[in-house]
Amino acid sequence: MSPDLMMSRPLFVTFEGIDACGKSTQIKLLADFLHRRQIKTTQLRDPGSTRVSEAVRNILLDRKYADMSPWAELLLYEAARAQLVQESVLPALKNGFVVLCDRFYDSTTAYQGFARQLDPVVVEKANAIGSCGLIPDLTIFIDIDVQESEQRKQLLGHTLDRMEAEGKQFLQRVRDGYQALWAKEPNRIFRVNGSESIETVQEQIQTLLIQKWKDMFSSEQ
Ligand SMILES: Nc1ncnc2c1ncn2[C@@H]1O[C@H](COP(=O)(O)OP(=O)(O)OP(=O)(O)O)[C@@H](O)[C@H]1O
Ligand SMILES: [Mg+2]
Repeated sequence: MSPDLMMSRPLFVTFEGIDACGKSTQIKLLADFLHRRQIKTTQLRDPGSTRVSEAVRNILLDRKYADMSPWAELLLYEAARAQLVQESVLPALKNGFVVLCDRFYDSTTAYQGFARQLDPVVVEKANAIGSCGLIPDLTIFIDIDVQESEQRKQLLGHTLDRMEAEGKQFLQRVRDGYQALWAKEPNRIFRVNGSESIETVQEQIQTLLIQKWKDMFSSEQ
């Protein structure tokens, strides 16, 4: 058995960062890397990945609900998350999977807390409810600046969803929020420079994952 396989443990890994930082790209590459090593892995997205959470996601991202109150927005994100945790994340971890989740409660802290400027104490309480108390083992913060995000979105040419349509100043506050979170929780949140090449970013993420397993392995000895 290879050393990587011996050390692998069920793990809840979340991916964070502003629009187009590379979350989906990196999650797919990491899932491929783990599958090649026969490590049971599942990819999820928050909000989403269950029937109920995808329905809530559609409401959250639909621009026809531009009048949504920030408090309703907060609670809908938490509702979608609670369903995802109960239906998918907890069972997968129990069954020994590595769970790679595209966004989790740090997104709520960054978007609804920092950017929408809702009371941070209330946001933290809401996050505890929505996540059912589950804390990621490892959070990868893929950091790019707002200009790069805008350029990538333009290149992709997709119609912007309700959150993406908020604009540059909003996105800057989200990025500032992520940087503050990273400074606050350096043992859980790791920053990678998302403007490096896709391959370099992936190598750094793989190194962080393996280091996490090494730490878990040695604390069990
Ligand atoms: N390191 C990189 N360098 C250059 N381009 C990249 C890099 N990583 C991703 N991209 C490109 O940026 C775009 C957005 O990437 P991706 O969809 O993975 O981001 P995302 O964080 O999942 O975005 P979203 O928040 O919209 O879901 C894609 O066109 C992707 O190919
Ligand atoms: Mg994505």
